[in-house]
Amino acid sequence: MSYPDVRLRRLRENPKVRTLVRENELLARDLVQPLFVKESISAPVPILSMPGQFQWTESGAAEEAKKLEALGVPAVILFGIPAKKDSTGRAAFASKGVIQRAVSRIKKAAPRLLVITDVCLCEYMSHGHCGHVDGGSVMNDASVKTLARTALSHAEAGADVVAPSDMMDGRVAAIRRLLDKNGFEKLPLLSYAVKYASAFYAPFREAAESAPGFGDRRSYQMDPANAAEAIREAAADIAEGADMLLVKPALAYGDMIRTLRDRTACPIGCYSVSGEYAMVKAAAERGWIDEKKVVLETHLSFKRAGASFIVTYWAKDIARWQKRNKS
Ligand code: PBG
Repeated sequence: MSYPDVRLRRLRENPKVRTLVRENELLARDLVQPLFVKESISAPVPILSMPGQFQWTESGAAEEAKKLEALGVPAVILFGIPAKKDSTGRAAFASKGVIQRAVSRIKKAAPRLLVITDVCLCEYMSHGHCGHVDGGSVMNDASVKTLARTALSHAEAGADVVAPSDMMDGRVAAIRRLLDKNGFEKLPLLSYAVKYASAFYAPFREAAESAPGFGDRRSYQMDPANAAEAIREAAADIAEGADMLLVKPALAYGDMIRTLRDRTACPIGCYSVSGEYAMVKAAAERGWIDEKKVVLETHLSFKRAGASFIVTYWAKDIARWQKRNKS
């Protein structure tokens, strides 16, 4: 059968039919809000390239967490900016470090919120790389040890999920083993398995004060030209014990969300990164696009691509918009 027997517009004309046949939906419960927590500040500092986002004090982060919980945002992912960086990254695993303290405060302030911690070293290293550096190159195995130690310190502080974002080889296995050895065998691990070396991270590096002091991250993050490689990255992390995988960035990588959805049986999330946020904010500020409509459309596209959850700087806004629609 074909036209005129087939008329696809029959499913679009009546809004009730349109709703009935809708295949995907964006829900507040799919969202994870990133929060930046900075040591040694006494009031929240706005992030200039990310309007509406802040570097929070520990107590500010706890207050914000409470608001997110009340709005129905189910989860946060935490990034820390320590007062002192050095070449050992020791602030990353300090038992009283900025993230370790923030986690316990947030858990107290917002007990129903799922607290995920980003496990990386770039914010804690004076050179800004995601691992230990020797002779101008980022060392894999030494970095993995420090990352595992960092993840354990987050678990001990009360994190619900740890999320390594460094892209070193073998870090999932090392973290899993150290967690299990210390009684955290039930703690889920969310791996940034498919993380590309992307220009879309630029505003984040202002937010987290983590720009590499020399070179770039192409020796550990993936080449944007590659798709098949993502299948190997995902398989490696699943074999090492990752419970959930993240694709990052999201907007330019919908194909990779779909590929992993179809090629693995693991829950897949995506991270709509700082540059995606800055881009829409800048255009919306000029009145060139409608922020809310564009955001709902891009985030729906992540669901359509196969993401079960979305890490996004718009989590709070989306939850708020949806609440308003209901009332
Ligand atoms: C840390 C990390 C980065 C992001 C998340 N974790 C920066 C990077 O890899 O340079 C980027 C997030 C964003 O841009 O919103 N390794």
